[in-house]
Amino acid sequence: MRELTRALGHLAHGSSTALSPRAEEAVSGQTIIGTAKQFRKELPDVQVPPDLKAGEFWFNRQNSNGAHQLIVVGGDEAGVLYGAFNLLRSRDSNGFPLEVREAPAMPLRWVDEWDNIDGSIERGYGGRSIFFDAGHVRNDLAPVTEYARLLASIGINGCNLNNVNNASAFFTPEMLKEVARIADAMRPYGVRVSLSADIASPQKLGSLSTFDPLDPAVKKWWTEKINEIYALIPDFGGFTVKADSEGQPGPASYGRSPADAANMLAATLAPHNGVVLYRAFVYNHHLDWTDPKADRARAAYDIFHPLDGRFASNVIIQTKEGPIDFQAREPVSPLFGGIPHTSQAVELQITQEYLGQQRHLVYIVPMWKEVLDFDMRVSDASTPVKQIISGKSFNRQLGGMVGVACVGQNGWLGSPLALANLYAFGRLAWNPNLKPEDIAAEWTRQTISTDRAVVSTVVNMLMHSWPAYESYTGPLGLQTLTDITGSHYGPNIEASERNGWGQWHKADHEGVGFDRTVATGTGFASQYSPEVARLYESAATTPDNLLLFFHHVPYTYKLHDGKTVIQYLYDSHYDGAAQAAQSVSRWESVKEKIDPNLYEDVLARLKYQAGHAIVWRDAVTQYFLKLSGIPDAQGRAGRYPNRLEAEDARLTGYKTIDVNPWEDASHGKAVSCDIPRLADGPGSGPDFGRAEKDPHESWASEPARDQSCVADFSYTGQTGRFNIAVQYFDLQGGNAKFSAFINGQQIDAWTANDKFPSTRPNGDNSTRHILDKVALKPGDTIRIEGTPNSADPAALDYIELLPPAPAP
Ligand code: GCU
Repeated sequence: MRELTRALGHLAHGSSTALSPRAEEAVSGQTIIGTAKQFRKELPDVQVPPDLKAGEFWFNRQNSNGAHQLIVVGGDEAGVLYGAFNLLRSRDSNGFPLEVREAPAMPLRWVDEWDNIDGSIERGYGGRSIFFDAGHVRNDLAPVTEYARLLASIGINGCNLNNVNNASAFFTPEMLKEVARIADAMRPYGVRVSLSADIASPQKLGSLSTFDPLDPAVKKWWTEKINEIYALIPDFGGFTVKADSEGQPGPASYGRSPADAANMLAATLAPHNGVVLYRAFVYNHHLDWTDPKADRARAAYDIFHPLDGRFASNVIIQTKEGPIDFQAREPVSPLFGGIPHTSQAVELQITQEYLGQQRHLVYIVPMWKEVLDFDMRVSDASTPVKQIISGKSFNRQLGGMVGVACVGQNGWLGSPLALANLYAFGRLAWNPNLKPEDIAAEWTRQTISTDRAVVSTVVNMLMHSWPAYESYTGPLGLQTLTDITGSHYGPNIEASERNGWGQWHKADHEGVGFDRTVATGTGFASQYSPEVARLYESAATTPDNLLLFFHHVPYTYKLHDGKTVIQYLYDSHYDGAAQAAQSVSRWESVKEKIDPNLYEDVLARLKYQAGHAIVWRDAVTQYFLKLSGIPDAQGRAGRYPNRLEAEDARLTGYKTIDVNPWEDASHGKAVSCDIPRLADGPGSGPDFGRAEKDPHESWASEPARDQSCVADFSYTGQTGRFNIAVQYFDLQGGNAKFSAFINGQQIDAWTANDKFPSTRPNGDNSTRHILDKVALKPGDTIRIEGTPNSADPAALDYIELLPPAPAP
């Protein structure tokens, strides 16, 4: 009731967001709200459906002596809450049905936070933790209550609080007491908390000499620990387990299986109604890349399929949607079809680790929807992923969706439009049959504006964003062609090759793609049901968007529409970058109708993204042009006619440098006003949680200097007005300054103070500043002056004359 009063009171007093018909009715008439039990006791005349389950709600409109009444009944208290939030949702503005009954599609609807005890967040892009700081739970838990409220409004009922890596520190008696405060803050909103558990905790915290899950002393340790937790948090949800994966300890150390470890924990959690979410993300990251049969994609199925039927009933196997790791495109993990006697959850990533880290607009929901709708064809029957995880396909009690959210103090996700993903995650977990575009519209109406033009524009932007991102970062199933051993952000095409991580795309001079067929490859394709396996076994029947995930083909191989693979790679990157630019103009078209602060914030992000999409485009196209030796039929790749390269300018102070990887700069070169040297000692760069780091990741610079460097470019083209893009590298560890001059006259100045991932000049931090509408005539000198600051050497790639700006 508090939620209704809070929201309706607010809305009734002049909010800009229009009320849904339901909500209006609630404001104007009488609303009666409660659990089915309360109704039966106090209002027995109301015909509450007899079988209303926990989490479910039912609305009914009725007239009572001429006045209308709105009845909102929940199967339990959570159901009442979901009913109240549903009432407020301005979803069906087309009319108001007399009766609505909704139930969540699956029991587990959880978010995972990857928060560390020091308050940092693995793969978090929204600032520091709302839960933890400096080894403790934060004093101020008001944001946690607000977060629980936000989660309840979209039907989420669980929150796993801590990072799946290095979890043992959370299991000390002191810390568990503190965690109980978080549980107290979230409980009123029906959100149960759970924790990631480190399998080695009995050894790390309990001074046992072993963490063998079958050792009686280890079992005893966990039993006592679990009892301790439930004494503090009676509705504790359970454990999420990452074991034998990326350096995390696990049962394999003792020759035990995931089932041994999971069942041991599950047995002790069961009396408390707790569950174990055991992650299927188990693989060897020291694979031999020279072995043509080695394949990381196989790992989850190879390990978990033989264990099907051996897991306790309160164990849920939690599987990332694809067999690799949250890439821009992967096939659906074959494991969903491979363990029919086991409860399952899909793990999706709301935080955009490989999808532009919230700096790029990527509405991931169409991808999730493809996964949920994908029919695994188990036993030749319809078995879409959404039905498997709902428990329906194989008659399982448990199952659901887990979204890795990694929210922080900075507007939850650090970027306003990224919140559409969090919202949609909850809505899909509630009802996986909803359409991505409808959820986008629903979110826009509630969050930005109900104006039709705004809604259709934002929906358009959102719906185009994932296809665009895929197009400019690695289409045809290549996976995201990023720096997989470092930032996971900018382009770095070879970072995935020739190392043990197994994200190979196997590009050489002749062809590209990973042969995963049974006939000639790793046999991964055979992990699917026969019907699906047949589809992927042949290049001719594999969908183009997964071709290179399953097949190694020559660059001249023709796709279904007759275009060659290499030409598609060129075209797709140019199209994708053009689409990113279109988002800017789409957003500009509704400027007047949007809150000015939101407008400017989003505009700056979209402009940055449009520039970074060009960095991606150029990196991937230059790279494959060089490797294949086959030119772009449209003459674009590797040719930048409107660009003046910094290394060709008249340089004063600036030195030409080789950028690494070379494809991240135009023609591989840039100029730097400082000569960085490789650090000898351990890196000062950020820790990205990988066990192995690129040795080049850490740089040390010369001490700060005030001296500027200058690049002078001579203009020889036509007289006219141009926007000029200045492409530079904005490095961590300093705020370099730049100024622009035409014939000695200063026209602009800016500071390179963004926070990009890397400490050396590359595609992570290559960014642009646009000099607006500059008048130029032949013989003019365009000067860019860079002043280094600390470790940022004001490095510069090129300037580019963009098409003349339209007349004002
Ligand atoms: C990715 C991510 C890691 C994370 C891991 C996981 O590899 O980069 O930071 O720990 O997934 O899901 O466990």
